[in-house]
Amino acid sequence: MLHTVRTAIFPVAGLGTRFLPATKATPKELLPVLDTPLIQYAIDEARDAGIERMVFVSHPSKSAIERHVMDDAALRSQLKARGKVDIAAVLEENAFCHENDDVRFVMQSEPLGLGHAVLCAREHALTGAVAVILPDDLIIGQNCLAEMIEAYEQGNGGHMVASMRVPLDETSKYGILSVANEAGRMLHAKCMVEKPAPQDAPSCHAVVGRYVLDANVFERLQTQVPGAGGEIQLTDAIAKDASALGLAGFSFSGRRFDCGSKAGMLRATLHLASQDPECAAVLEEFSGIVQPRAAA
Ligand code: G1P
Repeated sequence: MLHTVRTAIFPVAGLGTRFLPATKATPKELLPVLDTPLIQYAIDEARDAGIERMVFVSHPSKSAIERHVMDDAALRSQLKARGKVDIAAVLEENAFCHENDDVRFVMQSEPLGLGHAVLCAREHALTGAVAVILPDDLIIGQNCLAEMIEAYEQGNGGHMVASMRVPLDETSKYGILSVANEAGRMLHAKCMVEKPAPQDAPSCHAVVGRYVLDANVFERLQTQVPGAGGEIQLTDAIAKDASALGLAGFSFSGRRFDCGSKAGMLRATLHLASQDPECAAVLEEFSGIVQPRAAA
């Protein structure tokens, strides 16, 4: 089947202030969960979902992202010369090269918001709906983007966002859907608001960082005025077309980790470590020492 969703946009220009000082010289997208940088999980998800073109919206100070994403033939041959054939093969499998892969880098020099980042990718988007992946939201288990694209292609187009329930006191961290009705894994939404206070939140259905968006979103972003936090919000541009094009929340099957926070990074690391025989032994070693802190 020919995919209608051919492009994935990765907004990776953010300064990662929540992880300073770790992110002073290292982009937050390159922080590892075990031995794999966050950006690699996002790339693998997009590749396995059948995405043809990947567009990274980066920042001039974050050239290390490009170095990670693109092939480094010199490093691979050095590794091979030292007999480290396995790791050289992993690097080759992960990396892109301009001859064989459709990958673009564009710069977002000013921190004008997620909506602005997506707009920066406009000229590089192939025809049809586009996917947006926020690498901070690590989703383990079922490939979230693949599930969404499959559902999207069975529907009538419009906008689709990954969604999950969050506690009421956390609505101000997310885009929140105003839900009209639920049908299986789909929440049909009337609207979406960015980071509402709990008393203003239309529901507890939050948006997590996977989107499949009708290309009309670029048109909307072009004229989008700054919203929450003084930034050009993707949420606001999506909301504008909610009734005309349709807006659905998709309840995905994987487990999501908020790797934009220290606790989320730790949870993701422990989760993956528990599935790795070598690391599981280390967890076992610590299990008697680390006691959950009693509630205050
Ligand atoms: C962004 C979006 C927000 C969404 C969240 C998911 O916010 O603006 O709507 O719910 O990602 O992680 P950020 O976390 O970048 O502030």
